[in-house]
Amino acid sequence: MKHTITLIPGDGIGPEIIAATVRTIEATGVEIEWETQIGGAQALEKFGSTLPESLIESITKNKVALKGPMTTPVGKGFTSVNVGLRKALDLYANVRPIKALPNVPCRYPELDLVVMRENTESLYAGLEHVVVPGVVESLKIITEKASTRIAEYAFQYAKDNDRKKATAMHKANIMKLSDGLFLECFYKVAEKYPEIEADDKIIDNACMQLVMRPSQFDIVVMENLYGDIVSDLCAGLIGGLGLAPGANIGEKAATFEAVHGSAPDIAGQGIANPTAIMLSAVMMLRHIKEFESATKMEDAMMEVFKDGEVRTRDLGGAATTADFANAVIDKLK
Ligand code: NAI
Repeated sequence: MKHTITLIPGDGIGPEIIAATVRTIEATGVEIEWETQIGGAQALEKFGSTLPESLIESITKNKVALKGPMTTPVGKGFTSVNVGLRKALDLYANVRPIKALPNVPCRYPELDLVVMRENTESLYAGLEHVVVPGVVESLKIITEKASTRIAEYAFQYAKDNDRKKATAMHKANIMKLSDGLFLECFYKVAEKYPEIEADDKIIDNACMQLVMRPSQFDIVVMENLYGDIVSDLCAGLIGGLGLAPGANIGEKAATFEAVHGSAPDIAGQGIANPTAIMLSAVMMLRHIKEFESATKMEDAMMEVFKDGEVRTRDLGGAATTADFANAVIDKLK
């Protein structure tokens, strides 16, 4: 079966890592017609909007997108293009697996957990205003509906993926109403999944525990802002941002993208690590039920890591983005 998928190369290192990923996906033999769309800084120049209507329409039609990072231009009037896309398509569950890779130096070589981030509200609702000059109000929105739906997604994911435990991370001791509601919804949903252990941790302690003893966690569930910070922290535990994949899942569409951003400091040099976006592509292939291609691509990547010869600079090697893709493609032959 041929799939039509929206492809967003994105900004900065985006086009480089996406090109490497598309070549690798195609080498697995899966048939995909790519519908390329631009968003972010590039789209602003061409369409006068960072999130053109054509991009939203393409994803709505195809239901799946592979997305490079997009830069939100600095300055007043620009709300985050990534947050905007997730809200426009109601991609409520941000799923970020954090799994150590073979032979990649990191703090926790056995680590395997999943960060589940609520993707549509909290302080990222974008409701900010100047009350009087020098005083700004920023509203944190937490709803029963969104908190319940991310908890449902997390527990169902645990059940489907043979995970044993879900931990809510929150600050309900201080934000008694907002984080309190999030936590209440989490435990209400937990009652429907007695086979999955449920517990919670206050976010500051949770961050310390993640750094000291992350193996105690399996699935960690939290609101938007905490999830944004904790997923970068967790990427650091397995060797850096170049390694952590992600998916944004909604009822009607899903987009697959790395945790990292457009990395302007290394853009245009062909040296970015494409692993995170390639692993996001593996998640995408599973989502569209191309299980064989997904496993082939993942296995080939793991073999390259086991060999340890082709490593990008962030992992202490000298390989380029294209070298890494070529090594994976060689394993697929
Ligand atoms: P960043 O994630 O782009 O970069 C942070 C650091 O990690 C940099 O030193 C970068 O070189 C390194 N890095 C990131 N990805 C890498 C890779 N694949 N290989 C090797 N090194 C890598 O974060 P930053 O600099 O805060 O954000 C840059 C831009 O990206 C901003 O405009 C931000 O809004 C946007 N952004 C977009 C995201 C998305 O599209 N989902 C997510 C996060 C940021």
